[in-house]
Amino acid sequence: MNKDGKYTDLRGATPMHGSQAARMDFNMVSNSTSLETNVLETIVPDSIWHARQALKFGPISITTRMTVVRLRDGSLWVHSPVTPTPELIATLSNIGNVRCVIAPNKSHHLYFPAFLAAYPSAAGFIAPGLESKRPDLAGYPLIPDDAPWGDELQGFFIDGLPILNETVWFHAATGTLILTDLLFCFSQNNRGLSAFVAKVLGVYNRLAMSRTMKLAIKDKHALRRSVRPLLSLPCQRIIVAHDEIIGKQAAEKLKVALREL
Ligand SMILES: [Fe+2]
Repeated sequence: MNKDGKYTDLRGATPMHGSQAARMDFNMVSNSTSLETNVLETIVPDSIWHARQALKFGPISITTRMTVVRLRDGSLWVHSPVTPTPELIATLSNIGNVRCVIAPNKSHHLYFPAFLAAYPSAAGFIAPGLESKRPDLAGYPLIPDDAPWGDELQGFFIDGLPILNETVWFHAATGTLILTDLLFCFSQNNRGLSAFVAKVLGVYNRLAMSRTMKLAIKDKHALRRSVRPLLSLPCQRIIVAHDEIIGKQAAEKLKVALREL
C-alpha cells in the first residue's frame, strides 16, 4: 500500500526512496522469505483460515492477509480477499461455499472484484467511502449493521478515522478479533529496512496503531468511543492484515494499544 492507501503487486513495483520509508503508513514487512503466497493455512481448526499474498512497497516486500471464517451453516465469510488463484479456489472448495466477501476498509479492495468474479453467487460488501474511491465498486452494498452473517461475527465500525472507515469483527465462538489496518504488530522476524520502518512507526514487536495512522485521526473522541466496546471482549487472539497474529495475551495487548489512542 502506498501513501495514498494503494497497493501494488510485485509486477507493478516502483522504487522507493529512503525518505519514503518514514512515510509508510499501514504496511510493514513480513520476513517470510519462504512464504508460499495464496496458500490457505489453518488459524483455528475447523473455524478460521488465512492466506497471505506477497506485495511490494518500493524495495520492501510485504504481505496482505485474507481471513476466512466458516459460519455455522458451513458457508464461508471472506475478509480482505487475495487473488483467487486456482489452487486457492480448490482449497476453499474443500472447506465450504463462499457466501460473503468483505472489503473491510478503504485500503483493502485490490483483489475484491477478482475474488467476487470467481464466486459470482457470493454477496460482496464494501467499507463506506469505497464507493467514491473505487466507482467500479459502487454497485456493492456497504457493510450493513444488520448483516446476513447474523450474530456470529459482531461488527464494530471504527469512527473518527476516515482514511480507513474500517469495520472490525469479533468471532465469539473462537474469541477472535479480526482487524485490518487499525493496529499492527510486526514481529522480531523482520530485519533490516523492514525492522527499521516498523520501529519508526512504533509497531515493531508490539501491537499498536502506527504513528502515521495516528496522524490521520480526524476525531479522537469518536475514535475512542468506537473502540471502547472492544476493551471488554473476551479476546483470545487478534488477526491483523499484515504480519503477526496475536495469540498470547491478546486482550491485554489490545487494551494497551487502544488506551494509547
Ligand atoms: Fe493494509
